[in-house]
Amino acid sequence: MSPITHIEDLRVLAQRRVPRMFYDYADSGSWTESTYRANEADFQAIKLRQRVAVNMENRSTRTTMVGVDTAMPVALAPTGLTGMQHADGEILAARAAEAFGVPFTLSTMSICSIEDVAAHTKAPLWFQLYVMRDRDFIERLIERAKAARCGALMLTLDLQILGQRHKDIKNGLSAPPKPTLANLINLATKPRWCLGMLGTKRRQFGNIVGHVKGVADMSSLSSWTAQQFDPALNWGDVEWIKNRWGGKLILKGILDPEDARLARDSGADALIVSNHGGRQLDGAPSSISALPAIAEAVGSRIEVWMDGGIRSGQDVLKAVALGARGTLIGRAFLYGLGALGEAGVSKCLELIQKELELTMAFCGHTDIRRVDRGILLPPHGAAPPAGPLPVRAYG
Ligand code: FNR
Repeated sequence: MSPITHIEDLRVLAQRRVPRMFYDYADSGSWTESTYRANEADFQAIKLRQRVAVNMENRSTRTTMVGVDTAMPVALAPTGLTGMQHADGEILAARAAEAFGVPFTLSTMSICSIEDVAAHTKAPLWFQLYVMRDRDFIERLIERAKAARCGALMLTLDLQILGQRHKDIKNGLSAPPKPTLANLINLATKPRWCLGMLGTKRRQFGNIVGHVKGVADMSSLSSWTAQQFDPALNWGDVEWIKNRWGGKLILKGILDPEDARLARDSGADALIVSNHGGRQLDGAPSSISALPAIAEAVGSRIEVWMDGGIRSGQDVLKAVALGARGTLIGRAFLYGLGALGEAGVSKCLELIQKELELTMAFCGHTDIRRVDRGILLPPHGAAPPAGPLPVRAYG
């Protein structure tokens, strides 16, 4: 196998190794996928400002996200069905994140349960919450996240109803896959994945199965989840959840400055500029294009993060330059996981950090915490802003 040098290599390998319905589940957006594509394309359009003859020794990408020390301004995003990209996927990804020194977020819709992932890691997990109609279940989930010593609760606000992804419907997405002829033929070409799955008990939604009355088998589970997301979710519920949880709260799925102000006024610790990786409202702007106005609207009373379309450390740097204190990566780590398991997630993080650190240096900076808009060129060849290089550069 030729060396893996960028995230695209991991994507190609994951596509070969992961059953089609789960690869497609990751590599897709809603309807025409225009927002999904824009998330990546809009990063490409941002140009960096090269500086030379700057002392580039002692570079650091370390920072904090809601007070947690991180090796770089990156956390693993919550992604459903991660344990279907690779057997025990959530545990493997959480371990890789812990070893690297970045936070891992467990989705409500994970395969491995909160308790299971917590038992296999030392660093506190972050737990992502979807709000269901069954408030007893939500109360118990929050209690379980507390009992597992989760370090922050990430409340997702942009999925009260589900965006349509054509491929998931066409593939008959389910966990585990149903033994249809088409699935069996496809699984026959994925021997590693099958062996992994035969060797684990973790094949259902671990946070839900056994925790909800009347949901014992897969068919009742899928209809339960489809009916359960609460379309009535509102800012009053955010307040209720904040009080019930009592710890650090992160609001995910903000794309509009007005909603960003409401998020700030809710007293949350961080908000994430996100369109759910282009999986919900197709036609919404890319996250990176929505970021500057939101960062400006909320000021410094709440940390502003972003996700969507990050496929390299250069993208992370651009997000930081435009006002994000932190970022989340979804597909980038899922491709690593599908390709090579835990080692693939570690590889993904290494690649991103290396690209981030080098690009930061090429732009004349050595400390990620001092990077600002000055590293970007204005569009269409206009003159860059005048101003000195960072102080360290002269040292
Ligand atoms: C997601 N996302 C997501 N978000 C969330 O809050 N809860 C979830 O369960 C999921 N599930 C999920 C599954 C898959 C396969 C993907 C790709 C994404 C959204 C995720 O947290 C994040 O916002 C995006 O993945 C960011 O975009 P990129 O990095 O994938 O481009």
